[in-house]
Amino acid sequence: MTNLAGAPSVIAIDGSTAPGDGAGMPPVITIDGPTASGKGTVAARVARELGWHVLDSGALYRLTALSMEKRGIGVDDVAAVAAAARDLAVDFSGDRVWMDGDDVSVAIRQERIGALASRVAAMPPVRDALLARQRRFCRLPGLVADGRDMGTVVFPAARLKVFLIADVESRAQRRCKQLKAKGISANLPSLLEDMRARDARDRSREVAPLVAAADARTIDSSNLSVDETVNAVLDLWSSLGAQGGAAAR
Ligand code: DC
Repeated sequence: MTNLAGAPSVIAIDGSTAPGDGAGMPPVITIDGPTASGKGTVAARVARELGWHVLDSGALYRLTALSMEKRGIGVDDVAAVAAAARDLAVDFSGDRVWMDGDDVSVAIRQERIGALASRVAAMPPVRDALLARQRRFCRLPGLVADGRDMGTVVFPAARLKVFLIADVESRAQRRCKQLKAKGISANLPSLLEDMRARDARDRSREVAPLVAAADARTIDSSNLSVDETVNAVLDLWSSLGAQGGAAAR
C-alpha cells in the first residue's frame, strides 16, 4: 500500500465529494467483493502494472478493531469505536502497516481482528469516520481501491468498477494458505464457518452492504490464477480505451 497517511501532496478532495471521475480528478478502479476473494492481491498487482496508488480499505477497519482491543473499547460503545476510527495514527509503507509506531502488519491479519472489523464496519458512525480518510488516497496518477463499498459509496464515480467473487470453499482454502504462510495458525472448517458468517454480516448490514454497484463488472476468480484475474481487470480497463494515467478522462 502506498504511504499516503497524512501525506501533504494529497490532492485536496473534500471528504464530502466523491472523487474518481470528475474533470481533473485522478482515475479510480474499484475492486469490491467478499472476504478472501483475492481483492487485495489483485488490487496491488493492478496498481503496480499501472503505476498507481492502492487503497486496502479493509485494513482501516481492521486497524480500528486492533485499536479498540488495545484501548479496551467494547463493541457496545459505538461513539468510542468511531472516535478510535477517526483518530487512527497509522502509516502505510510498502506492504507494512504501522499504528502508534508499532508494526501491526501481521496483527491486523488475525481472524479474530477480521471478525471484529466486520462487526465495527456495520456501525454507520465508524463508516463516516473513515470516509474522508479513504478518499484522500485518490491521487495522481490514479488509484486502485479494494473493499466492499468502494464502487457504491466511497468512489461511486469510478471509471471501472470490478466485483470480484469466488466460491466460499476456494476463498477459505486461499485464506488458510495465506495465514499459514504468515505463520498464523489456521483451521479450514472454522475458517469456512467464520467466512460464511462474515459474508452474511457484510451483505445484510444496513449501511454500505456488500453489493455489486449497478455498473460493476463481475469477475469470478474461483478457477482463475492471480495472473489471469489481474489480466482480466487490465483487459477491462483497456477495453474502456483507458491506458495508464489520466487517459480515461
Ligand atoms: O477485506 P478485509 O477482510 O480486510 O475486511 C475486513 C472487514 O472490514 C470486512 O469483514 C468488512 C469490512 N470492510 C468494509 O465493511 N468495507 C470495506 N470497504 C472494507 C472492509
